[in-house]
Amino acid sequence: METLKISVLGTGDMGGAIATALKKRTNHTIHVRGSNDASISSKKLVGELGVTAATPQDLSTSDIVFIVVPATELSGAAATLGGYTGIVVAVSVSGTVGRDGRPSSAETLAASLPGAKVVSAFTSIWSDVIRTPGTDGQVSAFVASDHEDAKAAVSGLAKELGFHAINGGSLANAVYAEAMGMFAVRLAIDSGYGRTISFSAFNVR
Ligand SMILES: NC(=O)c1ccc[n+]([C@@H]2O[C@H](COP(=O)([O-])OP(=O)(O)OC[C@H]3O[C@@H](n4cnc5c(N)ncnc54)[C@H](OP(=O)(O)O)[C@@H]3O)[C@@H](O)[C@H]2O)c1
Repeated sequence: METLKISVLGTGDMGGAIATALKKRTNHTIHVRGSNDASISSKKLVGELGVTAATPQDLSTSDIVFIVVPATELSGAAATLGGYTGIVVAVSVSGTVGRDGRPSSAETLAASLPGAKVVSAFTSIWSDVIRTPGTDGQVSAFVASDHEDAKAAVSGLAKELGFHAINGGSLANAVYAEAMGMFAVRLAIDSGYGRTISFSAFNVR
């Protein structure tokens, strides 16, 4: 397996889980960046995992950049990436996705980063499950993009992390995958299933 250079932009609960899973379960080179150079959450990950704080050059030369910031911070994250032309994994979910008539976070990023290959993935998986995929059956990672090569690369990464990669079709479908993320939040909190409630897609035969 080729060693990829992967950066994680956004080092909170979900970004931290993704960086930890990538570092512990793959051989790729991992860089992290929080909201600014002095980000405490980023420094914590660097100290705990032995990953590297991403410089602007690290970001621009990454094969894959995960964007794991609050949906309200997407424009700031996109500005940090500037003219990036690699693969972007959009993980952000807006609390009003599917209700506000606005594009998905993934489509918003694609509009802001026209040179990048944006892939929607991991939006419906809790950070707890990213850290520990569990043994009760394979959790699905829904992967949607308009770029088949980028979708294949991110699907491969999802498999490496222990998830069942499901072809989610084009980036226009990201809104549904992001809505599943909000549904997972409601199932965890309102229905009381907790932060390990997960989706598994399969064909009935
Ligand atoms: N938590 C989950 O289980 C989960 C699952 C699926 C999807 N998501 C989605 O993932 C996104 C992040 O969620 P979270 O729970 O990780 O939130 P969080 O714990 O609040 O972390 C947000 C992170 O974003 C960083 N950030 C803010 N503005 C930034 C910018 N302009 N550039 C770079 N980094 C920036 C913050 O950096 P500092 O620490 O430096 O302030 C912080 O590390 C949300 O859209 C959420 O819907 C979360």
